[in-house]
Amino acid sequence: MRNTSAIVLVIISVLLSAGSTNIAADTEENDFMINIDARKHTSLNGTWHIIADPFQTGYYSYRYRVRQDGYFKNDKPDDKTDLVEYDFDSGETLKVPGDWNTQNDKYFLYEGTMWYKRDFDYKLDSDKRLFVYFGGANYHTIVYLNGEKLGEHTGGFTPFQFEITDKIKDKDNFLIVKVDNKRKPQAVPTMNFDWWNYGGITRRVMLLETPKTFIEDYFVQLAKGKADKVSGWVQLDGAAGKEPVKIEIPEADIEKTFETDAEGYTKVEFEAEWQLWSPENPKLYDVIVSCDTDRVKDKIGFRTVETKGDKIVLNGEPVFLRGISIHEESPFRASRANSSDEAKVLLGWAKELGCNYVRLAHYPHNEAMVRMADKMGLLVWSEIPVYWTIAWENEETYENAENQLSEMINRDKNRASVILWSVANETPVSKARMEFLTNLIKKARRLDSTRLITAANERHQEGEKVIVDDPLGKHLDVLGCNEYYGWYLGLPEICDNLNWKVELDKPLIISEFGGGALYGKHGDKRTRWSEEYQADIYTHQIPMLKEIDSLAGMSPWILKDFLSPRRPLPVIQDFYNRKGLISDRGQKKKAFYVLRNFYRKIADKNNPLPDQTKEK
Ligand code: GCU
Repeated sequence: MRNTSAIVLVIISVLLSAGSTNIAADTEENDFMINIDARKHTSLNGTWHIIADPFQTGYYSYRYRVRQDGYFKNDKPDDKTDLVEYDFDSGETLKVPGDWNTQNDKYFLYEGTMWYKRDFDYKLDSDKRLFVYFGGANYHTIVYLNGEKLGEHTGGFTPFQFEITDKIKDKDNFLIVKVDNKRKPQAVPTMNFDWWNYGGITRRVMLLETPKTFIEDYFVQLAKGKADKVSGWVQLDGAAGKEPVKIEIPEADIEKTFETDAEGYTKVEFEAEWQLWSPENPKLYDVIVSCDTDRVKDKIGFRTVETKGDKIVLNGEPVFLRGISIHEESPFRASRANSSDEAKVLLGWAKELGCNYVRLAHYPHNEAMVRMADKMGLLVWSEIPVYWTIAWENEETYENAENQLSEMINRDKNRASVILWSVANETPVSKARMEFLTNLIKKARRLDSTRLITAANERHQEGEKVIVDDPLGKHLDVLGCNEYYGWYLGLPEICDNLNWKVELDKPLIISEFGGGALYGKHGDKRTRWSEEYQADIYTHQIPMLKEIDSLAGMSPWILKDFLSPRRPLPVIQDFYNRKGLISDRGQKKKAFYVLRNFYRKIADKNNPLPDQTKEK
């Protein structure tokens, strides 16, 4: 008897897991809709009232307990006897989206809580649903509507949303947001990082209106290694049972209907002769996903990316990634970038440099940047800020990193330009770090089996040998490696005698190299901080790197000077990291032209990287 019941139990558990695996593998619970521009949306961008709150007085009582009557209540005195010690409407304002640091000098170095308030009216029809969506806010955010907490979000660079269908009023709604950018040892990133800790609602805020049943999420990309077969899925929200879902791609003569399961999920598969997306031909198709009550239109490119030995292969052809690293800063003033116009300038500079690839460091950039890369034809390395000395042993830290990874992949999984997900930057080797990162890698592969996984690791040197043998490499598809020969390590000519040894037969991207220069400072090639010194680093680095047989790309550090609290040298740095090939005013330094000449030379199809023409 016991055996039979045991067998029955096993069968039931297999059936249950099969059902849940199907849903879990493809449609991880994500906290936001994708492609929000295609939805009925109302912008809440603009002027918000604020209260700076360094002691979190609006959140904790004097006994440091969470208040029930915090600033999120937006209380007003009922009569002249009433004591209310705060008021949004008579106070300061800030622009949203935007960091607070560069909107008001007194907040330039501010690390703490800022409260934001926005009033709005909204007439919601009874057959509709309403969500409030944030493109991103740095770092920990709590959102309240009409005095009631909607929820929280941790992480400064990925979207989040809350449903407010049953909480909205026709008139006089007040949305209050608490954003705290304080660094914490267990946070992601942690206490120490080389970029400005821009705080605030740094990306757009939208009200999204949907039908009761709507298209929440979809994945429409070519199956791994297939140049004709799309393999993806669609997830409805609010499905009352099995529902028809249609995918139309008019230009590819595709019109297919599928039926979801009871949870509103369906796999989709179809084939076509595609004009494959590439940097040379960034072809995007109009893709329409619809169900009985909803219809969203997206622009999606189709391409394949894989590795073959030590080559990165795009649409079946080996590709050399002529890249540059970029921080998310506005082109002409140090502040968080967040618009398509800024993306166009930054990526325009990359194109001018001769790039076919950009490393968007060190965190997911705003969606406009990735969509602009899709449009302009730039391959993208996208990464989460698992940077330097993360609290590897802390469970909450891992959950946070995994959540930021999931949100990054969920938002950009339909962007052809994105070919690499990076899980880390310059993290010291340890048992705990290996466990943390290999778990992130497994998660990334579960969420997206089509893209390549990488990380920017370090290397070590033995005499004149530079060895790339980070143990993480065996879990990666592509090896990333940062090195600063000629800047932090020796003078530029040190590169002339170094030989690189890469332990694994995998493509290698030199994900950072370079050095600093103040635009307009000139001297001989050994005058530190001169444009000539910086250019000379590139002049010595390039011949060294060309000798690496498995070199598949590079993304020198960095396109543009950027703000960092770690760079105080008066006159030269003034809180800027000066490794940009372009100054913080958009002026090109000599090194820009050294790299551009190299990229122009190898971009010529008939003139591949000379040292890789050697037969193996
Ligand atoms: C490191 C790090 C960068 C940093 C750079 C530098 O490699 O990855 O974030 O800005 O070095 O020192 O300038």
